[in-house]
Amino acid sequence: MFDLKGRVVAITGASSGLGAQMARGFAGQGADLVLMARRLERLQALASELEEKGVKCLCIKCDVTNPDDVNSAAKQAEEHFGKVDILVNNAGSAKNNGVLNMTDEEWQFTMDTDLTSVFYVTRAFGNIMKKHNYGRIINIASMYGLVGNTAMDTVAYHSSKGGVVNFTRAVAAELAKYNITCNAICPGYFATELTIDTLKTDAFTAYMKATVPVGRYGNEGELNAGAIFLASDEASYVTGVILPIDGGYTAV
Ligand SMILES: NC(=O)c1ccc[n+]([C@@H]2O[C@H](COP(=O)([O-])OP(=O)(O)OC[C@H]3O[C@@H](n4cnc5c(N)ncnc54)[C@H](OP(=O)(O)O)[C@@H]3O)[C@@H](O)[C@H]2O)c1
Repeated sequence: MFDLKGRVVAITGASSGLGAQMARGFAGQGADLVLMARRLERLQALASELEEKGVKCLCIKCDVTNPDDVNSAAKQAEEHFGKVDILVNNAGSAKNNGVLNMTDEEWQFTMDTDLTSVFYVTRAFGNIMKKHNYGRIINIASMYGLVGNTAMDTVAYHSSKGGVVNFTRAVAAELAKYNITCNAICPGYFATELTIDTLKTDAFTAYMKATVPVGRYGNEGELNAGAIFLASDEASYVTGVILPIDGGYTAV
């Protein structure tokens, strides 16, 4: 089960953190990869590592907030591999502020990067999947898309990721007729470039221990099993599902 040999996985935000971790996970199941991000040299370093193990990789410099970049990336991926079976909408960032102080620019940056980009990328790659009557779309939302929090003010991030959660359900309903599933993973706290400065403080670690039943941050690679399952042929009857991988944060 969960063999991805012959499958092509496109991952946005593959240049660091969870995206690079999932790329290694998919490669381990035999998939070929389309690696996308703005930092091409990071993608190429990851590709070199994976190509040594026989994985075919295509690296594409792509800003997911730019629809021309995204459409061009989808075209390059289709020309190179002939198809894309699995899409992981993982790229993300945030400008954090409270609702009373947030600037228009901070709000718009977060919405563009975390929500509108998911629409652009799904539109471009979903059309390739439709032609082949097969697809698995996996959106990396956040547990902050399901609940609020008292540790930090980050209203735009909660809003964009909440949007990704319901985007997932709408796309699942709409694209089921093309044999395309769409599911979301809601990660909890994982130490990455995005989060490390916050997570390493004693105050945040104390908050985490009080609010995450498992009592620790997520470890490298702990998203991979969920992502591989949702990407697999075996998950053919699983769509519109919102899967928290958060050490129990949203369970309490
Ligand atoms: N870490 C956590 O605790 C956590 C929790 C919940 C959800 N998440 C979500 O998980 C996803 C991955 O985050 P991460 O923690 O792995 O952070 P990360 O290490 O900072 O990785 C973010 C990735 O997104 C890419 N990216 C950002 N803006 C982009 C843009 N405009 N165009 C193209 N690529 C862009 C970055 O690549 P370039 O800079 O090279 O373009 C990078 O590869 C995000 O959606 C994040 O919201 C993370």
